[in-house]
Amino acid sequence: MKTQSKIVEYNFEASVFNWEIAPGKTIEAWGINKQLPGPTLRANVGDTLVVRLTNKLNEATTIHWHGICLPASMDGTDGVQKPIDPGEVFEYRFVVPDAGTFWYHAHANETVQMERGMYGALIVDGETDPVVDGEKIFMIDDMKLDENNEFTKPSWFIPRIVERHDGRQGNTLLLNGKEDLVINVNGGQTERWRFINSSSARYFMLHLGGKKFKVIASDGGLLEHPHTVTEALITPGERIDIAVDFTEGETFAIESLAYNRMTFLKPKQETFATVKVGENKSSKAFIPETLRMIEPLAPQDAEVNRKIKLSVGPSLTDGMNFLVNGMMHVNDKPVMVGELQVWEVSNTSLMDHPFHLHGFFFQVIEENGKAPAYKAWKDTYNLTPRSKIKIAWMPDNRTGTWMYHCHIIEHHAAGMMATFDVIDGSKPYEKKPPTHIHHH
Ligand code: C2O
Ligand code: CU
Repeated sequence: MKTQSKIVEYNFEASVFNWEIAPGKTIEAWGINKQLPGPTLRANVGDTLVVRLTNKLNEATTIHWHGICLPASMDGTDGVQKPIDPGEVFEYRFVVPDAGTFWYHAHANETVQMERGMYGALIVDGETDPVVDGEKIFMIDDMKLDENNEFTKPSWFIPRIVERHDGRQGNTLLLNGKEDLVINVNGGQTERWRFINSSSARYFMLHLGGKKFKVIASDGGLLEHPHTVTEALITPGERIDIAVDFTEGETFAIESLAYNRMTFLKPKQETFATVKVGENKSSKAFIPETLRMIEPLAPQDAEVNRKIKLSVGPSLTDGMNFLVNGMMHVNDKPVMVGELQVWEVSNTSLMDHPFHLHGFFFQVIEENGKAPAYKAWKDTYNLTPRSKIKIAWMPDNRTGTWMYHCHIIEHHAAGMMATFDVIDGSKPYEKKPPTHIHHH
């Protein structure tokens, strides 16, 4: 039965507050409604989300709704919105058209605001979501703190270029804003766990102590079929939903295996949380073999109409610059409403980069010359060193200024980003000025 669309409203206040990440260990966080992560937003497909944000920080901010196919004016980048100054209020209002695991985060001064906690989950429920016994949302993060639990920025040349190169990866490991979380569940049950990588630069290779689990969804919602694995990579910005079964009496870790993304920092296996399974309970869960169908947007050999090259180049002052087609902070050509986009995105550097497209889902139709193992709707996809993908996506009538960038926040800030417009060819092209603040 189709439920009626409704308006779901939230009031957000961005502020600086103390947050306890472990007993007796408090940090000065920046976040929404004095929570880290911020409140979980939840709506059904087709609902209108209204979020009124009051900025009580000491600097301007905006919120980006990562993965939501919303109008350009609500995308929260400075290309479409004048940043919300301290003391001001802005109302975000948009329909959530797709079911899935999404998230929101600051899109201004990201290397500071996101690092300090300006993020939260946004879950959109659909009518065909599989039946499970329970659900959990896990937001992955890490913080780089000094011995006084303070955030610092490296000031010396070598540490500074290392952080620019690697991205800021910390050794304070957080799941939902807490260190060493203990999670209690019941035996005989199957839960849906939604993982969101909200860290600046950490490559999270999800591992449950060797236990099997089923990957059932990625960025843009359900896959066609569940995939049973023991590990799954979640790069910054990406989401993965899994279905996991529990056996009475077992204890296992939620950990990240070492993933070598070619950083100065040596990769290692690290534990984020512990799961304890209590007594058996009856189950009503059912994960079907076919979760949904995904129509292919284009064949593997579709002709490429744009090439995007991610690379690095030397910088006299910063060690390295991060580039799109050889330049920093690029203004890319517009695309036309209704014209299928087939982009070749290549990574000529010797490190990984998670490529993120705002506002539209894409399908990877080829990776290093081969068809991908399965179809999925994506908004963030990792490019390994010296690799190449072909993605297909369809610009619908949501005209305006959009963006793509590396989701390692320090690389984004160091130039690996571009804006482009979606334009309607039947109308004269006029670049829209950023919308102005709604005063209340
Ligand atoms: Cu989640 Cu422009 O980013
Ligand atoms: Cu990058």
